[in-house]
Amino acid sequence: MTLYSKIIGTGSYLPEQRVTNQQLTDQLAAKGIETSDEWIVTRSGISARHYAAPEQKSSDLAVHAARQALDMAGMQPDDIDLIIVASSTPDFFGSFPSTACIVQQKLGMSNNCAAVDVQAVCSGFVYAVSTANSFIKAGEHKNVLVIGAEVFSNILNFEDRGTCVLFGDGAGAVVMTASDQPGVLATALHADGRHSHILSIPGNVDGGAVAGSAFLHMDGPAVFKLAVSVLEKVAHETLEKAGMTSDQIDWLVPHQANIRIMNSTAKKLGLPLEKMVVTVDQHGNTSAASIPLALDQAVRDGRIKKGHNVMMEGVGGGFTWGAVLVTM
Ligand code: UT7
Repeated sequence: MTLYSKIIGTGSYLPEQRVTNQQLTDQLAAKGIETSDEWIVTRSGISARHYAAPEQKSSDLAVHAARQALDMAGMQPDDIDLIIVASSTPDFFGSFPSTACIVQQKLGMSNNCAAVDVQAVCSGFVYAVSTANSFIKAGEHKNVLVIGAEVFSNILNFEDRGTCVLFGDGAGAVVMTASDQPGVLATALHADGRHSHILSIPGNVDGGAVAGSAFLHMDGPAVFKLAVSVLEKVAHETLEKAGMTSDQIDWLVPHQANIRIMNSTAKKLGLPLEKMVVTVDQHGNTSAASIPLALDQAVRDGRIKKGHNVMMEGVGGGFTWGAVLVTM
């Protein structure tokens, strides 16, 4: 019998504070920084984003999303035997203790299950799902909680109009379980560290103080160019591994960074835009949270149904990229 991993629950959470382009434009104008709703919408497709409250950390957002995913899966927290959190904005500076451990504690779990963070920036969720899939297929773990959670507003430089208008906060989660039914059909992960400088937080801790910058820096056009080229390739690679063709994809759930990148990927795959789940307009770019947020939205509004084939694709800092093809 072939052992698969299957997504049996999804969940998501957006913090309460919603900020429209116009509100952000007004706030930035007060500081002498010029932008406009028109520029943001035309260049990125973003109209609004959510920001976490000052006391909300990535683990808090993650726990909301996780509870929803567990409910849908019909599971209790202690049924989970591995937690993987993808985040570039972990609760603690220096990344430890891991956000996954904090999530375990906040879910009130007492089963000593494994908990670990993965770091692949905006590709983090795809990396985490692929990791969970491997653990489940190897028989090492049975029920895995995979979460993408970000409070990107904490690392945005609101003096840099080229980045601060693009990102938002949120979390999404899935519960994956061992099954004799497919499941994750194929995954493909890649990285090219030679491009690490085009999207980074170019700082580190030295003698207990930040050396360099603690803010996100991005060469937008360079990221754009790479993203467009790798996303098409990795989608085809994943389809090939699964022995499928793009017309068998029911839904494309890409990383939500820029509608122009997303439209170009769908077009290159020959997919009608109606088959692509779009949340970038309302969420902005929530990095590792963007794919599970979009997935959960489309599952809950009834677009993605049991048996549908869903292609999830991520791309981001590192430089990293990857795709996961699943039957829901
Ligand atoms: O999540 C990880 C993956 N990330 C991405 O995929 C992001 C990829 N990159 C992008 O989405 C796009 O490159 C951006 C949306 C970031 C930028 O769009 P662009 O069409 O590449 O614009 P640009 O950076 O080339 O800037 C064009 C102009 C510049 O002015 P000049 O030099 O032409 O006079 C910028 O200074 O737009 C200016 N600009 C702005 N103007 C108004 C940059 N930011 C703003 C702004 N408002 N917020």
